[in-house]
Amino acid sequence: GPAATVLAIESSCDETAVAVLRGRESLLSAVVASQIEAHRPFGGVVPELASRQHSAATPGLLAAALEKAGVDVADVDVFAATAGPGLASSLLVGNTTAKALALACGKPFLAINHLEGHLLSPFFGDSEGVQPNVALVVSGGHTMLVDVAGVGSYELMGRSRDDAAGEAFDKVAKMLGLPYPGGPLIDQLAVEGDPKAYDFPRSMMKKPGFEFSFSGLKTSVRYLTETFDQEKRDEWLPDVCASFQQAVVDVLVGKTLRAAKAAGRKLVTVSGGVGCNRCLREEMQRACDRAGLDLRIAEPALSTDNAAMIAYVAHEHHLLGRSSSLDSDVDPNLPL
Ligand code: KG4
Ligand code: ZN
Repeated sequence: GPAATVLAIESSCDETAVAVLRGRESLLSAVVASQIEAHRPFGGVVPELASRQHSAATPGLLAAALEKAGVDVADVDVFAATAGPGLASSLLVGNTTAKALALACGKPFLAINHLEGHLLSPFFGDSEGVQPNVALVVSGGHTMLVDVAGVGSYELMGRSRDDAAGEAFDKVAKMLGLPYPGGPLIDQLAVEGDPKAYDFPRSMMKKPGFEFSFSGLKTSVRYLTETFDQEKRDEWLPDVCASFQQAVVDVLVGKTLRAAKAAGRKLVTVSGGVGCNRCLREEMQRACDRAGLDLRIAEPALSTDNAAMIAYVAHEHHLLGRSSSLDSDVDPNLPL
C-alpha cells in the first residue's frame, strides 16, 4: 500500500518532541521543546517539573508538528510514543496522549523503546533500512554495545556497570563547575586542551568482554582537581577536559572495535547524545578506517533525544505488522 504516516511523541526525559514521518524516508516535521533551562537551577532533571513541562508543551507541539507536516490528524496511520526507559511520570504524558489520539482516530498505537530509537537512528533516511551492525549506544542514561542482526533482533554484548558515558561527562562537568548538561561544554573546552596532559585510567580496557565502567575515572578527575588552585581554573580546565574526554573515547573506541571483530560485523554504528562528541566521532572514524570497517553515526540532531527516531522505529514495526495494546503500561526500566 501507500507509505504509512506515523506521528510519534518522545517524552522520556527533559525534552518533549513530536515528529511526523511518511514512509521510511520523508520526515515531514520534527519539533522539540527543551526543558534544559527549567532544570538548570537544580543541576539535573527534576521529575515532577519534567512531567508538568511535558504536559504543558505537548498540545502546542502536536499542533505545530501537524501544521508543519501539512497533515490532518485524521490522515495519520499510526500513533507512537516512547514507553521507556525514562522517567515514569514523563513517559506517561507522551504515552497517554498518543493512545488518546489513536483511540479518537481509530488508528493503531505503537509503544516504542527509547533505546531502540537511538539504536536504529544511524539508518534514518536510508531507503535500504537497517543493516547488520555492531552498535555503540552512548546516551545520558545508557552505554551499550549491541549486536544488531536486523530490526527487532538485538543481542546485548555489554554495557556500563555504573555511570553511562553521558552521565560521566555531565558529572565531571558539574564537578568542574560547568552548567548542566556539561557534555557539550567539555567537548568545546577540550578543543583548547592537551589530551595527554593527565593520564586518567582507561577502566576495563584490558579486561576481556564488553562491559564499561566510568565511575573510577570520575573519581580520578575529582582527586586530581581537588589539589588544583581554583583561582587558576582557566589554565588547567581545558587540559582536564581534553584528558578526561580522551580517556572516555579511548575505551569506547577500543571496546567497539573489539566487539565488531568478535561479532564478525563489517559495519559499526554510533548513536545517542555522546555520539555528538567530536573527539569520539573523529577517533571512531580513524579506527574504523584502519580496521577496514564501515562507520555510520547519526547526525547530531538525531543523536540527542528526538521524536524522529521514535517515528522511524514505529514505521519499521508497523511494516512488520506490529501494534501495541492501549492498556500497555510505561516501563521506566524497559530493557532493549
Ligand atoms: O541521548 P541523549 O540526548 O539523552 C539520553 O537518552 O540520555 O543524551 C544526552 C547526553 C548527555 O549526557 C549529554 O551531556 C551528552 O549526551 N552529550 C555529549 C555531547 N552532546 C551531548 N557528551 C559529550 N560530548 C558532546 N558533544
Ligand atoms: Zn536518549
